[in-house]
Amino acid sequence: MQRREAQRSDDHVFRGSVMDSHLWWQHGVVYQIYPRSFQDSNGDGIGDLVGIASRLDYLEWLGIDAIWISPIYPSPMADFGYDVSDHTGIHPIFGTMDDFDRLLAEVHRRGMRLILDLVPNHTSDRHPWFEESRASRDNPKRDWYLWRDPGPEGRPPNNWLSVFGGSAWEWDERTGQYYYHAFLKEQPDLNWRNPAVQDAMLDVMRFWLDKGVDGFRVDVMWHLIKDAQFRDNPPNPHYQPDDRPYERLLPVYSTDQPEVHDIVARMRALLDTYGDRVMIGEIYLPIDKLVLYYGDEGRGAHLPFNFQLVVLPWNAGEIFAAVSTYEASLPPGGWPNWVLGNHDQPRIASRVGEEQARVAAMLLLTLRGTPTIYYGDELGMKDVPIPLDRVRDPQGINYENAAFSRDPQRTPMQWDAGPNAGFTTGEPWLPVAWDWRRRNVERLRDDPDSMLSLYRRLIELRRREPALSVGDYAPVAVSANVMAFLRSHGERRFLVALNLGHRPAILESTPIPVDGTIVVGTHVDREGMRIAERLELDGDEGLVVELD
Ligand code: NOJ
Repeated sequence: MQRREAQRSDDHVFRGSVMDSHLWWQHGVVYQIYPRSFQDSNGDGIGDLVGIASRLDYLEWLGIDAIWISPIYPSPMADFGYDVSDHTGIHPIFGTMDDFDRLLAEVHRRGMRLILDLVPNHTSDRHPWFEESRASRDNPKRDWYLWRDPGPEGRPPNNWLSVFGGSAWEWDERTGQYYYHAFLKEQPDLNWRNPAVQDAMLDVMRFWLDKGVDGFRVDVMWHLIKDAQFRDNPPNPHYQPDDRPYERLLPVYSTDQPEVHDIVARMRALLDTYGDRVMIGEIYLPIDKLVLYYGDEGRGAHLPFNFQLVVLPWNAGEIFAAVSTYEASLPPGGWPNWVLGNHDQPRIASRVGEEQARVAAMLLLTLRGTPTIYYGDELGMKDVPIPLDRVRDPQGINYENAAFSRDPQRTPMQWDAGPNAGFTTGEPWLPVAWDWRRRNVERLRDDPDSMLSLYRRLIELRRREPALSVGDYAPVAVSANVMAFLRSHGERRFLVALNLGHRPAILESTPIPVDGTIVVGTHVDREGMRIAERLELDGDEGLVVELD
């Protein structure tokens, strides 16, 4: 505790006015906790708030600045909390409101921030709003959801598909209409064109902001508004047989409608009345559309999640180009951000391999912009295979395909070599990875060459060097497998060189001299060594070089 405060005040002196001109969510590192899987405190096999509070020492030691927790609200758990039945409560599985208040206070006492997941696009079908809405056609809340008459021969009103499989329309026998659900039928979409819905969700935001939460990660922000005429979506000419069937159509009319930006601006205006809170938007769109979510004159989301490192192939040329495109596309004042994984995506260590996951960590933590770390990635946790008959994720179950299940990336955090990796004394809700005796926090924290130590050194360097957190970015060179860029602030300049291939590579000619000292290497032995004239990288190696 004292250490952190001391470090913070040193930082302040060291960083001086640079950090003063940047906000916590700009120079900080965000860490995502999937609450079911982080730490169980009561032996029911499911993580909870008391469990999270008990692990704050670890997060502080790691050096992260803000925690984003996936939904903790009352929910029938059809989509593990993304089906909210009460937006201002706490699910008993996770604890009580007192537990939450204590967690928030403890996070703040340590100088960290807490970001909640806001799920405004849809509710649970058990939410009182929906129960009223479906009660009768003339219920005052009927128009809070998207009800439509059947199409010809009783068919759904249009061809829109659910992300989780099948038609996005569910027939309601009692009132003789269909309702729209972008996800499960247990997750009806709200009608955001209705001002009463907007007001109600803004009240939800106020509730948590009044409590002192530091911001929201807004679920499926680009889904909020749908085409007013409910036109059919066109076919996707690039559909591949291995894609989710949802991908058969392009969601041209069911997502990313121009009017969504007015909604985001309303949310942002509310946040602005609370000072330096943050709004992160979950948005899977190409860069040119994504950056519109910063809003006119920066009145949109502070951080529209940038998933380029999640969706692009692991290829130096493509990633290097995407960084430049992204940097060039940011509107004035738009702050960048980067993500390697989350609870919906395969883990980075499974996607690119254990060695490349180190290179990826270096990339995430040295690019310009706010990094978000997914819990366990700092250990190199991998996807855990889970057979179809044990799948819990509705996406895997609905498609009857374990390949579409998100359980593999949601397995329990690996804390120590004890039973269930120290996650629970009970039966864990998802299996613990078999490598837990070797891959766990207790063991890796003392190994200077571990992935965890690498994460910690990179985060520490960011905290110490404004060049790496808020400094400028400039591309330097790219070859078949290597990318190199410069981060600088004032006199201090750091070259980041990453080999995304497995074989050694040399950058023979670079537009700037590369002489300097290695301050962080994906392999600790390299640290302190000199680089002179040309850059030689081992396979799967990344280096941060402080230039002379
Ligand atoms: C995005 C969330 O990240 C995902 O986990 C969830 O299933 C959908 N939104 C629906 O809320």
